[in-house]
Amino acid sequence: MTQQIADPIAGPITDRLGRVVVLEGISEDNWRAVADVAPADDQRRFVAALAARYLLLSLNGGVWTSVGVRAGDTIAGHLMWAYDAEDGTHWVGGMVVSAPEQGRGVGRAALRAVIQRLSALPECREIRLSCHPDNTAAARLYASLGFRATGEYEDEEAVMALPVRVPAV
Ligand SMILES: CC(C)(COP(=O)(O)OP(=O)(O)OC[C@H]1O[C@@H](n2cnc3c(N)ncnc32)[C@H](O)[C@@H]1OP(=O)(O)O)[C@@H](O)C(=O)NCCC(=O)NCCS
Repeated sequence: MTQQIADPIAGPITDRLGRVVVLEGISEDNWRAVADVAPADDQRRFVAALAARYLLLSLNGGVWTSVGVRAGDTIAGHLMWAYDAEDGTHWVGGMVVSAPEQGRGVGRAALRAVIQRLSALPECREIRLSCHPDNTAAARLYASLGFRATGEYEDEEAVMALPVRVPAV
């Protein structure tokens, strides 16, 4: 049984082809398709060659939670998130849209969906991610949804943050 994560109040999030985009928990039905998600060859310097690597990290590390990105009938991508209880930030990582599915609005829809999902959690104060300085496509997408560079770096990647909630004083 596949668990779909969406906010029925905000209505469906769609890509540029009009397909409804949802974040889908990893299940018996979809794990093969999610594992096979692969970027274009020249994007392998930014992300893993196959989402399978992220799935293994989520399964074994106990830190990350992977989801498949479903666009209509197709598993079109992968992303994952982790919670840092020390500072109340959620991290998004492993964001990959399959090479043939790129440029159709799936990445934007998936990022909107994960922002919606994480910002609804009462403990979430900020959403963070990191991006290679040469990855202008991803940085442009993140900036367009409100992420701003923090000036910090993680493994040579620039950290970007989206404030979600200001703690009460
Ligand atoms: C980055 C990525 C997730 C974007 O997904 P996508 O489905 O192709 O993106 P979308 O079609 O939703 O486009 C969203 C925005 O991304 C940016 N973008 C996407 N492709 C781009 C390109 N080739 N050149 C420049 N900007 C681009 C644009 O700002 C675009 O804005 P628009 O909606 O106004 O056109 C996808 O290109 C990808 O998987 N890349 C390889 C893996 C990767 O780099 N992941 C990010 C790690 S930090």
